[in-house]
Amino acid sequence: MLTAETFRDDDTQSTQCTIHSRKKGKKVMAKSVFSNVQAGLPIAVFQLTIDYKADTSPLKVNLGVGAYRTDDGVPWVLPVVRQVEEQMAADRSLDHEYLPISGLQDFTSGAVRMILGDDSPAIVQNRALGFQALSGTGAIRLGADFIHKHLNGNVAYVPVPTWPNHYGIFQKAVQYKEVRTYRYWRAESRDLDFEGMAEDIKAAPEGAVIILHACAHNPTGVDLTTDQWKKIAEIVQERKLLPFFDCAYIGFATGDVEKDSWAVRYFVSKGIEFFAAQSFSKSFGLYNERVGNLTVVMNNADYKNRIKSQMELIARAMWSNPPNHGARIVATVLNNPALYKQWQGHIKEMSSRVFSMREMLYQHLKSLGTPGTWNHIVDQIGMFTFTGLGPKQVQGLRNRHHIYCLSTGRINMCALTTKNVEHVAKAIHDVVTTITED
Ligand code: LMR
Repeated sequence: MLTAETFRDDDTQSTQCTIHSRKKGKKVMAKSVFSNVQAGLPIAVFQLTIDYKADTSPLKVNLGVGAYRTDDGVPWVLPVVRQVEEQMAADRSLDHEYLPISGLQDFTSGAVRMILGDDSPAIVQNRALGFQALSGTGAIRLGADFIHKHLNGNVAYVPVPTWPNHYGIFQKAVQYKEVRTYRYWRAESRDLDFEGMAEDIKAAPEGAVIILHACAHNPTGVDLTTDQWKKIAEIVQERKLLPFFDCAYIGFATGDVEKDSWAVRYFVSKGIEFFAAQSFSKSFGLYNERVGNLTVVMNNADYKNRIKSQMELIARAMWSNPPNHGARIVATVLNNPALYKQWQGHIKEMSSRVFSMREMLYQHLKSLGTPGTWNHIVDQIGMFTFTGLGPKQVQGLRNRHHIYCLSTGRINMCALTTKNVEHVAKAIHDVVTTITED
Protein backbone atom coordinates (compact mmCIF):
# COMPACT_ATOMS: atom_id res chain seq x y z
CA MET A 1 0.00 0.00 0.00
CA LEU A 2 1.27 3.49 -0.75
CA THR A 3 1.42 5.77 2.25
CA ALA A 4 2.87 9.21 2.79
CA GLU A 5 6.00 7.32 3.94
CA THR A 6 6.51 5.90 0.47
CA PHE A 7 7.26 9.36 -0.86
CA ARG A 8 9.32 10.75 1.96
CA ASP A 9 11.72 13.39 0.66
CA ASP A 10 14.72 12.08 2.53
CA ASP A 11 14.33 8.39 1.88
CA THR A 12 17.30 8.17 -0.47
CA GLN A 13 18.10 4.56 0.55
CA SER A 14 14.72 3.25 -0.59
CA THR A 15 14.84 0.89 -3.55
CA GLN A 16 11.28 1.98 -4.28
CA CYS A 17 12.59 5.31 -5.50
CA THR A 18 15.19 3.74 -7.80
CA ILE A 19 14.30 3.05 -11.39
CA HIS A 20 17.12 0.55 -11.92
CA SER A 21 20.41 -0.37 -10.34
CA ARG A 22 23.56 -2.17 -11.53
CA LYS A 23 24.49 -5.45 -9.87
CA LYS A 24 27.71 -7.19 -10.86
CA GLY A 25 27.76 -5.26 -14.13
CA LYS A 26 24.28 -6.47 -15.08
CA LYS A 27 21.36 -4.09 -15.43
CA VAL A 28 18.41 -5.34 -13.37
CA MET A 29 15.02 -3.78 -12.89
CA ALA A 30 14.55 -2.79 -9.27
CA LYS A 31 11.25 -2.72 -7.44
CA SER A 32 9.18 0.31 -8.22
CA VAL A 33 6.03 1.72 -6.70
CA PHE A 34 4.86 2.23 -10.26
CA SER A 35 5.29 -1.31 -11.56
CA ASN A 36 1.59 -2.11 -11.36
CA VAL A 37 0.39 1.06 -13.05
CA GLN A 38 -1.35 0.19 -16.30
CA ALA A 39 -1.40 2.66 -19.19
CA GLY A 40 -4.67 4.58 -19.32
CA LEU A 41 -6.66 4.95 -22.49
CA PRO A 42 -6.08 8.21 -24.34
CA ILE A 43 -8.87 10.80 -24.19
CA ALA A 44 -10.45 10.26 -27.59
CA VAL A 45 -11.28 13.86 -28.42
CA PHE A 46 -7.76 15.12 -27.71
CA GLN A 47 -6.09 12.08 -29.30
CA LEU A 48 -7.90 13.02 -32.52
CA THR A 49 -6.16 16.39 -32.50
CA ILE A 50 -2.78 14.69 -32.08
CA ASP A 51 -3.52 12.29 -34.95
CA TYR A 52 -4.81 15.12 -37.12
CA LYS A 53 -1.65 17.17 -36.53
CA ALA A 54 0.51 14.21 -37.52
CA ASP A 55 -1.38 13.80 -40.81
CA THR A 56 0.52 15.47 -43.64
CA SER A 57 -2.30 15.47 -46.20
CA PRO A 58 -3.41 18.90 -47.44
CA LEU A 59 -6.96 17.52 -47.42
CA LYS A 60 -7.06 16.95 -43.68
CA VAL A 61 -9.92 18.35 -41.62
CA ASN A 62 -10.33 18.07 -37.84
CA LEU A 63 -14.02 17.83 -36.97
CA GLY A 64 -13.20 16.48 -33.51
CA VAL A 65 -12.64 18.80 -30.59
CA GLY A 66 -15.30 21.41 -29.96
CA ALA A 67 -13.45 24.61 -30.69
CA TYR A 68 -14.37 27.48 -33.00
CA ARG A 69 -12.49 28.09 -36.26
CA THR A 70 -12.79 30.99 -38.68
CA ASP A 71 -13.66 30.44 -42.32
CA ASP A 72 -9.89 30.14 -42.88
CA GLY A 73 -9.88 27.18 -40.51
CA VAL A 74 -7.87 28.90 -37.78
CA PRO A 75 -8.64 29.67 -34.11
CA TRP A 76 -10.20 33.07 -33.41
CA VAL A 77 -9.10 35.30 -30.59
CA LEU A 78 -12.19 37.47 -30.13
CA PRO A 79 -11.30 41.12 -30.85
CA VAL A 80 -12.91 42.20 -27.56
CA VAL A 81 -10.69 39.71 -25.73
CA ARG A 82 -7.60 41.09 -27.47
CA GLN A 83 -8.62 44.61 -26.58
CA VAL A 84 -9.10 43.81 -22.90
CA GLU A 85 -5.83 41.85 -22.80
CA GLU A 86 -4.00 44.88 -24.18
CA GLN A 87 -5.60 47.11 -21.55
CA MET A 88 -4.62 44.61 -18.87
CA ALA A 89 -1.02 44.43 -20.10
CA ALA A 90 -0.74 48.22 -19.88
CA ASP A 91 -2.36 48.46 -16.44
CA ARG A 92 0.47 48.69 -13.88
CA SER A 93 -1.98 48.46 -10.98
CA LEU A 94 -2.66 44.78 -11.73
CA ASP A 95 -0.56 42.19 -9.94
CA HIS A 96 -0.34 38.45 -9.48
CA GLU A 97 -1.53 38.19 -5.90
CA TYR A 98 -3.79 35.30 -4.90
CA LEU A 99 -7.48 35.73 -5.61
CA PRO A 100 -9.98 34.80 -2.89
CA ILE A 101 -10.60 31.02 -2.95
CA SER A 102 -14.10 31.67 -4.29
CA GLY A 103 -12.67 33.69 -7.16
CA LEU A 104 -12.63 37.16 -8.64
CA GLN A 105 -15.75 38.83 -7.30
CA ASP A 106 -16.49 40.88 -10.43
CA PHE A 107 -16.26 37.72 -12.46
CA THR A 108 -18.50 35.50 -10.32
CA SER A 109 -21.17 38.19 -9.92
CA GLY A 110 -21.04 38.96 -13.66
CA ALA A 111 -21.30 35.26 -14.52
CA VAL A 112 -24.30 34.79 -12.21
CA ARG A 113 -26.03 37.82 -13.75
CA MET A 114 -25.30 36.52 -17.22
CA ILE A 115 -26.94 33.15 -16.63
CA LEU A 116 -29.83 34.23 -14.39
CA GLY A 117 -30.55 37.68 -15.83
CA ASP A 118 -30.00 41.02 -14.04
CA ASP A 119 -33.44 41.11 -12.47
CA SER A 120 -33.56 37.48 -11.42
CA PRO A 121 -35.42 37.01 -8.11
CA ALA A 122 -32.58 34.74 -7.00
CA ILE A 123 -30.14 37.66 -7.37
CA VAL A 124 -32.46 40.30 -5.95
CA GLN A 125 -33.14 38.12 -2.90
CA ASN A 126 -29.45 37.21 -2.51
CA ARG A 127 -30.20 33.51 -3.08
CA ALA A 128 -27.63 32.93 -5.82
CA LEU A 129 -24.00 32.07 -5.19
CA GLY A 130 -21.24 32.32 -7.80
CA PHE A 131 -18.02 30.40 -7.26
CA GLN A 132 -15.10 30.51 -9.70
CA ALA A 133 -13.85 27.18 -10.99
CA LEU A 134 -11.52 25.74 -13.60
CA SER A 135 -13.88 26.02 -16.54
CA GLY A 136 -17.00 23.90 -16.88
CA THR A 137 -15.17 20.74 -15.83
CA GLY A 138 -13.98 22.31 -12.57
CA ALA A 139 -17.42 23.76 -11.88
CA ILE A 140 -19.10 20.38 -12.35
CA ARG A 141 -16.43 18.68 -10.25
CA LEU A 142 -16.84 21.22 -7.45
CA GLY A 143 -20.63 20.88 -7.49
CA ALA A 144 -20.53 17.08 -7.70
CA ASP A 145 -18.14 16.95 -4.76
CA PHE A 146 -20.23 19.39 -2.70
CA ILE A 147 -23.44 17.46 -3.35
CA HIS A 148 -21.71 14.18 -2.47
CA LYS A 149 -20.30 15.52 0.78
CA HIS A 150 -23.10 17.76 2.01
CA LEU A 151 -26.34 16.65 0.35
CA ASN A 152 -25.76 12.87 0.46
CA GLY A 153 -25.61 12.80 -3.33
CA ASN A 154 -24.83 9.31 -4.55
CA VAL A 155 -26.91 8.85 -7.66
CA ALA A 156 -26.54 11.00 -10.76
CA TYR A 157 -28.44 10.79 -14.03
CA VAL A 158 -26.95 11.71 -17.39
CA PRO A 159 -28.57 11.69 -20.83
CA VAL A 160 -27.63 9.11 -23.45
CA PRO A 161 -25.47 10.24 -25.05
CA THR A 162 -23.71 12.92 -23.07
CA TRP A 163 -20.36 14.65 -22.76
CA PRO A 164 -18.18 11.71 -21.61
CA ASN A 165 -16.55 13.72 -18.85
CA HIS A 166 -19.83 13.66 -16.90
CA TYR A 167 -19.03 10.00 -16.22
CA GLY A 168 -15.41 10.88 -15.53
CA ILE A 169 -16.41 13.37 -12.87
CA PHE A 170 -19.38 11.75 -11.13
CA GLN A 171 -18.25 8.14 -11.42
CA LYS A 172 -14.47 8.07 -11.49
CA ALA A 173 -13.44 11.24 -9.69
CA VAL A 174 -16.11 11.84 -7.06
CA GLN A 175 -17.18 8.19 -6.97
CA TYR A 176 -20.95 8.41 -6.79
CA LYS A 177 -22.41 4.98 -6.11
CA GLU A 178 -24.27 5.08 -9.38
CA VAL A 179 -24.33 7.09 -12.54
CA ARG A 180 -27.56 6.15 -14.24
CA THR A 181 -28.79 7.20 -17.64
CA TYR A 182 -31.94 8.69 -19.06
CA ARG A 183 -33.06 8.32 -22.66
CA TYR A 184 -32.41 11.34 -24.84
CA TRP A 185 -31.48 10.62 -28.46
CA ARG A 186 -33.74 8.58 -30.69
CA ALA A 187 -31.46 7.15 -33.35
CA GLU A 188 -34.15 6.04 -35.80
CA SER A 189 -35.63 9.50 -36.24
CA ARG A 190 -32.45 11.36 -35.23
CA ASP A 191 -34.28 13.50 -32.70
CA LEU A 192 -35.22 13.77 -29.05
CA ASP A 193 -36.87 10.89 -27.24
CA PHE A 194 -38.78 13.18 -24.92
CA GLU A 195 -41.23 10.54 -23.67
CA GLY A 196 -38.31 8.27 -22.75
CA MET A 197 -36.48 11.13 -21.06
CA ALA A 198 -39.50 12.13 -18.99
CA GLU A 199 -40.24 8.54 -18.03
CA ASP A 200 -36.66 7.86 -16.88
CA ILE A 201 -36.39 11.07 -14.89
CA LYS A 202 -39.73 10.37 -13.26
CA ALA A 203 -38.35 7.05 -12.04
CA ALA A 204 -35.34 8.69 -10.34
CA PRO A 205 -35.13 8.43 -6.55
CA GLU A 206 -35.61 11.53 -4.41
CA GLY A 207 -32.47 13.65 -4.23
CA ALA A 208 -30.92 12.23 -7.41
CA VAL A 209 -28.75 14.66 -9.36
CA ILE A 210 -30.08 15.20 -12.88
CA ILE A 211 -27.54 16.53 -15.36
CA LEU A 212 -29.30 18.73 -17.90
CA HIS A 213 -27.61 20.40 -20.86
CA ALA A 214 -28.98 23.95 -20.71
CA CYS A 215 -28.67 24.47 -24.47
CA ALA A 216 -26.85 23.08 -27.52
CA HIS A 217 -26.75 19.55 -26.15
CA ASN A 218 -23.32 17.95 -26.57
CA PRO A 219 -23.05 15.77 -28.65
CA THR A 220 -26.49 15.70 -30.31
CA GLY A 221 -27.27 19.38 -30.89
CA VAL A 222 -30.88 18.52 -29.99
CA ASP A 223 -32.56 20.68 -27.35
CA LEU A 224 -35.87 20.63 -25.53
CA THR A 225 -38.66 22.98 -26.51
CA THR A 226 -39.88 25.41 -23.87
CA ASP A 227 -42.94 23.22 -23.24
CA GLN A 228 -40.72 20.20 -22.73
CA TRP A 229 -38.55 22.12 -20.27
CA LYS A 230 -41.69 23.04 -18.35
CA LYS A 231 -42.61 19.38 -18.12
CA ILE A 232 -39.13 18.46 -16.85
CA ALA A 233 -39.30 21.22 -14.23
CA GLU A 234 -42.62 19.79 -13.08
CA ILE A 235 -41.15 16.30 -12.73
CA VAL A 236 -38.11 17.65 -10.90
CA GLN A 237 -40.37 19.36 -8.38
CA GLU A 238 -42.74 16.43 -7.98
CA ARG A 239 -39.96 13.91 -7.51
CA LYS A 240 -37.74 16.26 -5.40
CA LEU A 241 -34.75 15.89 -7.70
CA LEU A 242 -31.65 18.05 -7.85
CA PRO A 243 -31.03 19.58 -11.29
CA PHE A 244 -27.47 20.30 -12.34
CA PHE A 245 -27.26 22.35 -15.54
CA ASP A 246 -24.22 22.05 -17.75
CA CYS A 247 -24.10 25.49 -19.40
CA ALA A 248 -21.07 25.14 -21.65
CA TYR A 249 -22.64 26.85 -24.65
CA ILE A 250 -24.64 29.81 -23.33
CA GLY A 251 -24.53 32.54 -25.94
CA PHE A 252 -22.86 30.32 -28.46
CA ALA A 253 -25.93 28.28 -29.41
CA THR A 254 -28.19 30.98 -30.82
CA GLY A 255 -25.92 33.99 -30.42
CA ASP A 256 -28.38 35.27 -27.81
CA VAL A 257 -27.62 34.89 -24.10
CA GLU A 258 -31.24 35.37 -23.08
CA LYS A 259 -32.54 32.62 -25.35
CA ASP A 260 -29.77 30.19 -24.43
CA SER A 261 -30.38 30.73 -20.69
CA TRP A 262 -34.15 30.32 -20.93
CA ALA A 263 -34.35 26.90 -19.27
CA VAL A 264 -32.14 27.92 -16.33
CA ARG A 265 -34.16 31.09 -15.76
CA TYR A 266 -37.41 29.17 -15.99
CA PHE A 267 -36.27 26.88 -13.16
CA VAL A 268 -35.58 29.98 -11.04
CA SER A 269 -39.06 31.27 -11.78
CA LYS A 270 -40.51 27.99 -10.49
CA GLY A 271 -38.59 28.27 -7.21
CA ILE A 272 -36.41 25.24 -7.92
CA GLU A 273 -33.00 24.97 -6.24
CA PHE A 274 -30.21 23.93 -8.60
CA PHE A 275 -26.57 24.03 -9.68
CA ALA A 276 -25.37 25.48 -12.98
CA ALA A 277 -21.84 25.01 -14.28
CA GLN A 278 -20.73 27.74 -16.67
CA SER A 279 -17.80 27.57 -19.05
CA PHE A 280 -16.41 30.55 -20.95
CA SER A 281 -14.30 28.40 -23.24
CA LYS A 282 -16.62 28.47 -26.22
CA SER A 283 -18.45 31.77 -25.83
CA PHE A 284 -15.24 33.77 -25.25
CA GLY A 285 -12.85 31.45 -27.09
CA LEU A 286 -10.84 31.15 -23.86
CA TYR A 287 -10.35 27.40 -24.04
CA ASN A 288 -6.99 27.11 -22.33
CA GLU A 289 -7.58 29.82 -19.74
CA ARG A 290 -10.00 27.57 -17.82
CA VAL A 291 -12.60 30.20 -17.01
CA GLY A 292 -15.63 28.77 -15.25
CA ASN A 293 -18.22 29.53 -12.64
CA LEU A 294 -20.53 27.43 -10.53
CA THR A 295 -23.84 29.12 -9.85
CA VAL A 296 -25.92 27.73 -7.01
CA VAL A 297 -29.52 28.85 -6.62
CA MET A 298 -31.01 28.19 -3.19
CA ASN A 299 -34.37 29.10 -1.73
CA ASN A 300 -33.07 30.97 1.30
CA ALA A 301 -30.33 33.59 1.49
CA ASP A 302 -29.23 32.22 4.89
CA TYR A 303 -27.60 29.20 3.28
CA LYS A 304 -25.34 31.18 1.00
CA ASN A 305 -22.35 31.75 3.25
CA ARG A 306 -22.48 28.24 4.63
CA ILE A 307 -22.45 26.74 1.14
CA LYS A 308 -19.69 29.09 0.07
CA SER A 309 -17.50 28.24 3.07
CA GLN A 310 -17.83 24.50 2.39
CA MET A 311 -17.03 25.02 -1.26
CA GLU A 312 -13.94 26.96 -0.26
CA LEU A 313 -12.71 23.91 1.62
CA ILE A 314 -13.27 21.70 -1.42
CA ALA A 315 -11.63 24.15 -3.80
CA ARG A 316 -8.73 24.66 -1.40
CA ALA A 317 -7.87 20.98 -1.63
CA MET A 318 -8.28 20.86 -5.43
CA TRP A 319 -6.74 24.02 -6.85
CA SER A 320 -6.54 26.29 -3.81
CA ASN A 321 -6.93 29.53 -5.74
CA PRO A 322 -8.37 30.06 -9.19
CA PRO A 323 -6.47 31.67 -12.08
CA ASN A 324 -6.93 35.36 -12.72
CA HIS A 325 -6.19 36.14 -16.38
CA GLY A 326 -9.22 34.72 -18.20
CA ALA A 327 -11.62 35.56 -15.38
CA ARG A 328 -10.51 39.18 -15.45
CA ILE A 329 -11.09 39.37 -19.20
CA VAL A 330 -14.60 37.95 -18.87
CA ALA A 331 -15.38 40.14 -15.85
CA THR A 332 -14.27 43.26 -17.71
CA VAL A 333 -16.51 42.44 -20.67
CA LEU A 334 -19.56 41.37 -18.63
CA ASN A 335 -19.41 44.51 -16.48
CA ASN A 336 -18.95 47.06 -19.25
CA PRO A 337 -22.00 47.73 -21.48
CA ALA A 338 -19.94 48.79 -24.52
CA LEU A 339 -17.64 45.78 -24.34
CA TYR A 340 -20.61 43.50 -23.66
CA LYS A 341 -22.28 44.76 -26.81
CA GLN A 342 -19.12 44.07 -28.78
CA TRP A 343 -19.00 40.53 -27.38
CA GLN A 344 -22.64 39.99 -28.31
CA GLY A 345 -21.63 40.84 -31.87
CA HIS A 346 -18.91 38.18 -31.70
CA ILE A 347 -21.17 35.41 -30.44
CA LYS A 348 -23.69 36.33 -33.12
CA GLU A 349 -20.94 36.10 -35.72
CA MET A 350 -19.75 32.69 -34.48
CA SER A 351 -23.20 31.16 -34.23
CA SER A 352 -24.22 32.60 -37.61
CA ARG A 353 -21.17 31.05 -39.25
CA VAL A 354 -22.20 27.71 -37.76
CA PHE A 355 -25.74 28.14 -39.13
CA SER A 356 -24.41 28.83 -42.59
CA MET A 357 -22.11 25.80 -42.46
CA ARG A 358 -25.09 23.65 -41.49
CA GLU A 359 -26.97 24.94 -44.49
CA MET A 360 -24.04 24.43 -46.88
CA LEU A 361 -23.30 20.88 -45.73
CA TYR A 362 -26.99 20.02 -46.00
CA GLN A 363 -27.27 21.49 -49.52
CA HIS A 364 -24.16 19.63 -50.71
CA LEU A 365 -25.46 16.29 -49.42
CA LYS A 366 -28.83 17.00 -50.99
CA SER A 367 -27.34 17.77 -54.37
CA LEU A 368 -25.10 14.70 -54.19
CA GLY A 369 -28.23 12.64 -53.50
CA THR A 370 -26.65 11.06 -50.44
CA PRO A 371 -28.98 8.31 -49.22
CA GLY A 372 -30.85 8.96 -45.98
CA THR A 373 -32.38 12.07 -44.48
CA TRP A 374 -30.11 14.94 -43.53
CA ASN A 375 -32.57 17.52 -42.21
CA HIS A 376 -31.12 17.00 -38.76
CA ILE A 377 -28.00 18.87 -39.88
CA VAL A 378 -30.01 22.08 -40.15
CA ASP A 379 -32.41 21.26 -37.32
CA GLN A 380 -29.72 20.67 -34.69
CA ILE A 381 -28.19 23.58 -32.84
CA GLY A 382 -24.85 24.70 -31.43
CA MET A 383 -21.40 23.48 -32.19
CA PHE A 384 -22.13 19.89 -33.09
CA THR A 385 -24.05 17.76 -35.50
CA PHE A 386 -24.74 14.20 -34.47
CA THR A 387 -24.56 12.89 -38.00
CA GLY A 388 -25.79 9.35 -37.49
CA LEU A 389 -22.61 8.01 -39.12
CA GLY A 390 -21.42 4.77 -37.55
CA PRO A 391 -17.90 3.92 -36.32
CA LYS A 392 -16.87 2.16 -39.54
CA GLN A 393 -17.99 5.10 -41.62
CA VAL A 394 -16.09 7.43 -39.29
CA GLN A 395 -13.01 5.24 -39.80
CA GLY A 396 -13.61 5.48 -43.54
CA LEU A 397 -13.69 9.27 -43.37
CA ARG A 398 -10.32 9.20 -41.68
CA ASN A 399 -8.59 6.50 -43.74
CA ARG A 400 -9.86 7.54 -47.14
CA HIS A 401 -10.40 11.27 -46.79
CA HIS A 402 -8.24 12.53 -43.88
CA ILE A 403 -11.32 13.73 -42.01
CA TYR A 404 -11.18 13.26 -38.25
CA CYS A 405 -14.23 13.00 -36.00
CA LEU A 406 -15.42 11.08 -32.96
CA SER A 407 -16.52 7.47 -33.46
CA THR A 408 -20.00 8.48 -32.23
CA GLY A 409 -20.42 10.40 -35.49
CA ARG A 410 -20.36 13.81 -33.79
CA ILE A 411 -18.83 16.51 -35.99
CA ASN A 412 -17.75 19.98 -34.97
CA MET A 413 -19.58 22.33 -37.34
CA CYS A 414 -17.21 25.18 -36.50
CA ALA A 415 -14.39 23.38 -38.25
CA LEU A 416 -16.24 23.40 -41.56
CA THR A 417 -15.35 26.23 -43.89
CA THR A 418 -16.48 27.41 -47.32
CA LYS A 419 -13.27 25.80 -48.61
CA ASN A 420 -13.59 22.33 -47.06
CA VAL A 421 -17.35 21.76 -46.82
CA GLU A 422 -17.64 20.23 -50.29
CA HIS A 423 -14.76 17.84 -49.58
CA VAL A 424 -16.45 16.81 -46.32
CA ALA A 425 -19.84 16.36 -48.02
CA LYS A 426 -18.32 14.19 -50.77
CA ALA A 427 -16.49 12.14 -48.16
CA ILE A 428 -19.70 11.61 -46.18
CA HIS A 429 -21.43 10.62 -49.43
CA ASP A 430 -18.65 8.13 -50.17
CA VAL A 431 -18.75 6.39 -46.76
CA VAL A 432 -22.54 6.33 -46.61
CA THR A 433 -22.81 4.73 -50.04
CA THR A 434 -19.99 2.21 -49.60
CA ILE A 435 -19.68 1.29 -45.92
CA THR A 436 -22.47 -0.51 -44.11
CA GLU A 437 -22.56 -0.62 -40.35
CA ASP A 438 -23.55 -3.93 -38.73
C1 LMR B 1 -15.67 18.81 -26.68
O1 LMR B 1 -16.72 18.27 -26.32
O2 LMR B 1 -15.12 18.57 -27.78
C2 LMR B 1 -15.00 19.83 -25.80
O3 LMR B 1 -15.88 20.24 -24.80
C3 LMR B 1 -13.69 19.38 -25.33
C4 LMR B 1 -13.79 18.40 -24.19
O4 LMR B 1 -13.28 18.71 -23.11
O5 LMR B 1 -14.35 17.30 -24.36
